[in-house]
Amino acid sequence: MRVIGLNGSPNEDGLTAAMLAAALEGAAEAGAETEAVHLKRLTIFSCLQCENGWGLCRKEGGCVQEDDFADLKARVEAADAIIISTPVYFGEVSEVAKNFLDRLRRGAFAGPQANVMKGKAVIGIAAAGGSGGGIVSCQSILERYFNHLGLRLFDMIPVTRFTRSYKTETAKAAGKAMVEEAGQGQE
Ligand SMILES: Cc1cc2nc3c(=O)[nH]c(=O)nc-3n(C[C@H](O)[C@H](O)[C@H](O)COP(=O)(O)O)c2cc1C
Repeated sequence: MRVIGLNGSPNEDGLTAAMLAAALEGAAEAGAETEAVHLKRLTIFSCLQCENGWGLCRKEGGCVQEDDFADLKARVEAADAIIISTPVYFGEVSEVAKNFLDRLRRGAFAGPQANVMKGKAVIGIAAAGGSGGGIVSCQSILERYFNHLGLRLFDMIPVTRFTRSYKTETAKAAGKAMVEEAGQGQE
């Protein structure tokens, strides 16, 4: 089983990244091959809303923009499960997380092609390192993406700077449990 984790924070050693690392550590402990992707290292432009808004991708299957999106999309599609860890910015997902999720969601509506994201398990992590405000709206936005993508929500983990120590344990346990659950399904 392959698990890919996406870090939506510019900080590679902050709260968002630590939560992702813990979840991936748990997944690896349960036997998964894991990969962490720091979205900020990649170039992923925002969606161009081509034509009347429904986009050329709907007709043609791929995005017309030449950046790192197609490669990452292929890696996410090749994974069996996904972990998305985003900082809470203004009560929402971060801009780099949004750019990627927006364009990935377009793919789920790309004409007659099957949505290969459908049914993959996902863990969402919303890291609100400031006041902790906006954590619920951020999770609600993540949930909306997951629903559109046809992902199967395994867990949604909110974390603040006050809850970091025990939520790190939760993230690790969640990553492990997600892989173990998938293993049971294959028996
Ligand atoms: C532009 C911006 C907006 C933010 N908005 C919120 C917010 O709405 N609520 C909150 O609790 N923290 C907010 N924060 C703090 C981040 O959630 C915090 O930096 C987050 O935990 C990411 O930390 P990390 O980069 O160490 O992972 C904001 C930070 C930035 C830079």
